[in-house]
Amino acid sequence: MGLFNRKPKEEPIVEEQGQESSDQVGQETPAGANLPDDVQQLFAATENIKQEKEVEADAYTNEPTEEAQSPQTESTVSAEAAEAPSAPGDFPKAEEAEEDAKKPKKKKDRDGLSQEEKEELLRQESLYRQGIVSVRDLVAPAAMEILPDHFRLNEKYARSFFVVTYPRFVTTGWFSPIINLNYELDAAVYVTPVSSERILKTLRNKVGQVQSTMAAKQEKGEVRDPMLETALNDVEELRNKLIQGTEKFFHLGVYVTIYCDTKEELEEQSKEIEGILGQKLIYTKRALFQQEQAFMTTLPLGDDRLDIQSAMNTAPLSTTFPFVSSELTSDEGVLYGINRHNNSLVIFDRFSLPNANSVIFATSGAGKSYAVKLEILRSLMFNTDVIVIDPENEYQHLAEAVGGTYVRLSLDSAYRINPFDLPKGVSDMKTGDVLRSAVITLKGLMRLMLGRITKEEDALLDAALIETYASKDITPYSDLNTVEPPTMSDFERVLSGMQGAEGLIPRIKKYTEGTFSGIFNQPTNVDLDNQLVVFSIRDLEEELRPIGMYVALTYIWNIVRSQLKKRLLVVDEAWIMMQNEDSARFMFSLAKRGRKYYVGLTTISQDVTDFLTSEFGKAIVTNSSMQLLLKQSPASIDLLQKTFFLTDEEKYLLLESQVGEGIFFAGSNHVAIKIVASYAEDQIVTTDPRQLIEIEEQKEEYDIASGAGEGPTDAPQFDAPEESIETT
Ligand SMILES: Nc1ncnc2c1ncn2[C@@H]1O[C@H](COP(=O)(O)OP(=O)(O)OP(=O)(O)O)[C@@H](O)[C@H]1O
Ligand SMILES: [Mg+2]
Repeated sequence: MGLFNRKPKEEPIVEEQGQESSDQVGQETPAGANLPDDVQQLFAATENIKQEKEVEADAYTNEPTEEAQSPQTESTVSAEAAEAPSAPGDFPKAEEAEEDAKKPKKKKDRDGLSQEEKEELLRQESLYRQGIVSVRDLVAPAAMEILPDHFRLNEKYARSFFVVTYPRFVTTGWFSPIINLNYELDAAVYVTPVSSERILKTLRNKVGQVQSTMAAKQEKGEVRDPMLETALNDVEELRNKLIQGTEKFFHLGVYVTIYCDTKEELEEQSKEIEGILGQKLIYTKRALFQQEQAFMTTLPLGDDRLDIQSAMNTAPLSTTFPFVSSELTSDEGVLYGINRHNNSLVIFDRFSLPNANSVIFATSGAGKSYAVKLEILRSLMFNTDVIVIDPENEYQHLAEAVGGTYVRLSLDSAYRINPFDLPKGVSDMKTGDVLRSAVITLKGLMRLMLGRITKEEDALLDAALIETYASKDITPYSDLNTVEPPTMSDFERVLSGMQGAEGLIPRIKKYTEGTFSGIFNQPTNVDLDNQLVVFSIRDLEEELRPIGMYVALTYIWNIVRSQLKKRLLVVDEAWIMMQNEDSARFMFSLAKRGRKYYVGLTTISQDVTDFLTSEFGKAIVTNSSMQLLLKQSPASIDLLQKTFFLTDEEKYLLLESQVGEGIFFAGSNHVAIKIVASYAEDQIVTTDPRQLIEIEEQKEEYDIASGAGEGPTDAPQFDAPEESIETT
């Protein structure tokens, strides 16, 4: 019955032998009146064995007895019985009856059996036991064939290896490539501590040997032997560490058994394992003529039957530990993806970090927007508000799917944002401070809109902005909840009344009367009263895009400060903001101050070099506790390696990443991640044009099927204010 069943077959023999000996003792007992102590003990022991058998027999016949629960009582009773004949005279009858009454009825029956009958019963019992199927029979293989260099378990071909030598230097996690192989294998690592004193004695002898060899060589006038010197240094160093207690000494045995379906596969996999370890100068051997023992060694029994061990101190031993990946699974937060080291889930709450900001860098098409859209979708379920600046119309589909507001900023759209808006009631700021910060932000915008500005013009702008607010009765003493903010035209009017502003007026007219008029020159009609609001700036003229992004961010910032709520602010293609110093500074200030207003800023950029060479870009990265790096281009990898302190392995991992694969940093932890979406999520977040066309077609089909003109009633209304505003 194979390997596992050998024991049960042997057991009855042992039992029978035991039985014989007990019989002999049993026969002798009545003869001896005063038995020596050891014989009495033997007698009691044999009684115990018999009794255990009886108990087991009872268990099989499902008859629980009292003896089964208290075998010890009976053995003492028997021992007493053995001593009984030594007592002079008869037992009084009443006492006997009492004894009998105490004993259970069954006991009497059983005592009635003769020794032969008992033996027969036991024999039958063991026969019966051989015939029943135990769990071990079910688990064990049907057969095992042991050959010199491999063995067969049922249909499988298997082979066991052991590690024979290690190089002078071993790298951390050298065993993990074997563990991570997609093979069916068992690995066993035996670590046995060795007493330091014993080793120290050996090392002392070794030092003596090496030193005397060196001295002998020197006497002969031979040149020095670097090998001996290295050995001496190593030994001395180890002795120091052992004495200081910073290192301990161990014996290490490493064994692996692989299981394959065919012999060819077995050869192939064996070579691969030998190759992987061989590259690291760790040599393995196939356990020739010891396959069975080697196999037993790799079973989870903790029984090293090969005993092929290498001496190791703590530091190199620690490199053997194969599970070197870190985990990023917490009880709260959203799923970011799958940990590629160990297939665990990366679940994380970014608001649990010192700041909730994140940066995402990757080449175009690596899956940045996809990853962020998934995060948005999953965060929305946890009541987080999300605001997105979308320069590529990549989030429209997502907004439609979740009923979000999609604000398309363009010259001919009806949406307007007034850059002169002020936040209503920022709890921790006085009106004067709010006003001052609004003026500074507006000055940044003016520089973006008007181009080069001299120092004099800058001072003029400052005065004009304060004056513009004052013209609407907005002063450091106003209540910002009741004021009506000025517009760009008001500003132009104020500016035209000032001396020295002649150079600025024509430039500003472009935004009040010229081609770009309208969009930033009217009261705001956008509201953020939705869990997801997306500002699309794709339809803005190229020149207006940074301005659009700046104005939208200012507006969002105002709202965020007025109303405290858990929010994510996503800025896709953030390199647009990094092109200009003023807008870059503004982005940085958002990253720096977001934490206080419960905002997590997500900055996405494909232009890594531009972003990281900007002073503010770097500051944004250091102010972001969460970072996601996906596939990188060779051109930017070195800068990235320096900025994120990547190891060479991580660098190559990023260069070779597939779409949606990369490294996820959260605080001081980082893991290799694969971003995965469910089918339904994929349909919502994909930007693959082919998939989008298919989805569009399916939607049309659905519309036709559900009746012409009768679209789904909960369909989001895009550009809703368009009609109402244009008609007025
Ligand atoms: N994790 C993923 N699983 C499956 N498909 C993905 C994954 N990530 C991205 N994709 C697909 O890869 C393509 C590019 O993704 P995405 O638009 O997110 O790239 P991007 O990095 O934002 O590029 P760009 O910088 O040009 O905006 C899309 O078609 C998307 O559907
Ligand atoms: Mg994108």
